[in-house]
Amino acid sequence: MTSEFITVATTSEIPLGERIVVEIGRRWIAIFNVDGQYYAIEDRCTHDDGPLAEGELHDCIIECPRHGATFDIRTGKVLSAPALVDVPAFTVRVNNDEIQIGPRKS
Ligand code: FES
Repeated sequence: MTSEFITVATTSEIPLGERIVVEIGRRWIAIFNVDGQYYAIEDRCTHDDGPLAEGELHDCIIECPRHGATFDIRTGKVLSAPALVDVPAFTVRVNNDEIQIGPRKS
């Protein structure tokens, strides 16, 4: 991914509490709206490639639907096993009503 911001959706496409998955380059990125804040992580669990966007979200913690590892979607930090490695997290900004994904945070 380049260091530039890429428009991936409009704010109306990700309502409060919702998420979408978009393909950018060769990555699938999950974008979440939590209380009006947008967060983006790679949609691939670092344990065994589970689709994180299909997991349960509790505040800013996503639980992998495969084996239950948890990650903080604000930072990509892994919080519980069986995953041991953080998931990439990306900067998100809103420009007018466009949601834009930028450089990797972690
Ligand atoms: S693939 Fe996510 S915990 Fe195993």
